[in-house]
Amino acid sequence: MSNRPQTEEELQKREAVGVIRASRFIRRYARSHKAISMVTICAIHREIFKEAWPEIAGRYRDENLKITCSKHLPPHHSEVASLMLQKDAELQEKLKTLKTVAGIINDKNSEEAELIAAFDSIIRIAAWLHHAITFIHPFREGNGRTARLSANLILERYGMVGISVKIEKENKNQYHQALAQIDNANDMEPLVNLIYDGLLDRYQGVPVKYYGVKNNHPY
Ligand SMILES: Nc1ncnc2c1ncn2[C@@H]1O[C@H](COP(=O)(O)OP(=O)(O)O)[C@@H](O)[C@H]1O
Ligand SMILES: [Mg+2]
Repeated sequence: MSNRPQTEEELQKREAVGVIRASRFIRRYARSHKAISMVTICAIHREIFKEAWPEIAGRYRDENLKITCSKHLPPHHSEVASLMLQKDAELQEKLKTLKTVAGIINDKNSEEAELIAAFDSIIRIAAWLHHAITFIHPFREGNGRTARLSANLILERYGMVGISVKIEKENKNQYHQALAQIDNANDMEPLVNLIYDGLLDRYQGVPVKYYGVKNNHPY
């Protein structure tokens, strides 16, 4: 008998287990010294779907899609691979500029402003990667989950904690609007702010924002 899920319930169960497996994967990956690239993003997707939907797991889509509840039309499937390569090159450039939070905390001479700026740069690159993935929508399914886990991989690799940027039933509309705001106006602030809110939650109510750092990053 085929090992594919035979019912909708079984499919959902396997996807749920896949998200847990992918979360474990990013935690391990964050602690490693392996490069983060679009190949890593495919590996995250593969972890989610390898048991639930093996044909699409870790592979770029070969059909065109619409996103439910969104005006954004993802690019034609024939453009996905080259767009992902282009974003990969941008990602590598951006990552070169990042310092880890641990390095700054442990450096006795570092200023508070440096720590805040380090946080801010990491958060902005996490937001940028999140949107790059949802904008291209490289996979047949699971683009949102892959984007959220990929953004958490950036946060965790550079010394922060993973967060829930989208809280089911609570801020779904706000989250979708934040993504649309980037599509429409190239305005990253709503998504960046959602990440800050998620971090506030994970850091016991300690804000990592509003310490006077200026937002003049090129992201
Ligand atoms: N306006 C938008 N622009 C880009 N991405 C969006 C927009 N609105 C929603 N999305 C993303 O699309 C995702 C839905 O795509 P999908 O492939 O079905 O992912 P998943 O199955 O993980 O939910 C949402 O979770 C969200 O991340
Ligand atoms: Mg979906």
